[in-house]
Amino acid sequence: MKIAVLPGDGIGTEIVAEAVKVLQVLDLQFEMETADVGGVAYDRHGHPLPEATLKLAKEADAVLFGAVGDWKYDKLERQFRPEQAILGLRRNLGLFANFRPAICYEQLTHASSLKPELVSGLDILIIRELTGDIYFGQPRGRRASPDGAFAGAEEAFDTMRYTRPEIERIAHVAFQAARKRSKRVTSVDKANVLETFQFWKDVVTEVGQQYPDVKLDHMYVDNAAMQLVKQPKAFDVVVTGNMFGDILSDEAAMLTGSIGMLPSASLNASSQGLYEPSHGSAPDIAGKGIANPLATILSAAMMLRFSLNQPHAADRIESAVKDVLAQGLRTADIWSEGTRKVGTREMGDAVVAAITKKT
Ligand code: NAI
Ligand code: MG
Repeated sequence: MKIAVLPGDGIGTEIVAEAVKVLQVLDLQFEMETADVGGVAYDRHGHPLPEATLKLAKEADAVLFGAVGDWKYDKLERQFRPEQAILGLRRNLGLFANFRPAICYEQLTHASSLKPELVSGLDILIIRELTGDIYFGQPRGRRASPDGAFAGAEEAFDTMRYTRPEIERIAHVAFQAARKRSKRVTSVDKANVLETFQFWKDVVTEVGQQYPDVKLDHMYVDNAAMQLVKQPKAFDVVVTGNMFGDILSDEAAMLTGSIGMLPSASLNASSQGLYEPSHGSAPDIAGKGIANPLATILSAAMMLRFSLNQPHAADRIESAVKDVLAQGLRTADIWSEGTRKVGTREMGDAVVAAITKKT
């Protein structure tokens, strides 16, 4: 098993170091190789996704990614910005399914922006399609408006598009994921207004006929945004397009307390995947040793489960994370009165200790 380790910028190096430490105590046969990505790669090699990094990622079974970006790169031309590294990896590895679990750990229910009873026991999975939708649809651009009340005025436009195969493959991913959970899928669309999402709804419904054991319902995105804060536990698996998924997954993330707790996975058709925390490079706290490494450690657990076929090792990590929370250890982002504030390294050490104690 080969893992490409791409720490990136800001807190990326700090949090990935802890996840690597955790992977190393599992007694599994990994080959881990580290490479530069993002702003740090631009500084050293003149490109946010150097050839050598891309080659390593392509050859690996999985990529463990930290985060990229810093305000100091904001003035660079778009193609050299750190974020281009993520888009380039997604494109080159064919990653089309983004998994974002939103799990509210028992000890952190009070950290949520919702009432504890609404989030206690929350465990939902948002699956976002990554390759299509208005983010990539052509044509796009700026022009003089050809018609309408403001004909002749300057305008900008994007195009929302989805092909049948794109919808079918993400629908299969969602139904299969639901089979391993409580067998419910909510497909989120805007079929009442958008042709693209009427098509989405039709295709998801067709695919659903192959999964008679999974209950499928459909919800408009505006209602879904509302239900997520009204009764989030009513959801199990949510599947949606690129843009709605971008927004809803951030909304769901906030229900659980801290962005520092949320892992993510992006998979392709051969279950090769890129695993990263849902948060960014947090330049405001980088280098201070206070970032929460748990989102990255939990991403490593997802990597073991989805790409490396080591579900038992994944369970060990997840249970160790629950242990350290139960011990009252908290990084600053999840700290509250009566708990013990620890730094990044101490949190990683505690997870390692919880794993080794049990073996
Ligand atoms: P961010 O997620 O980096 O930070 C938002 C807030 O959450 C900050 O106050 C930060 O200190 C805090 N935070 C984030 N992760 C944390 C952790 N593990 N522990 C404790 N606190 C944490 O988002 P922001 O500030 O919008 O973006 C900063 C940079 O990150 C930008 O350059 C942005 O482009 C990049 N970014 C990169 C992503 C990626 O690599 N996939 C995703 C999102 C943003
Ligand atoms: Mg986002």
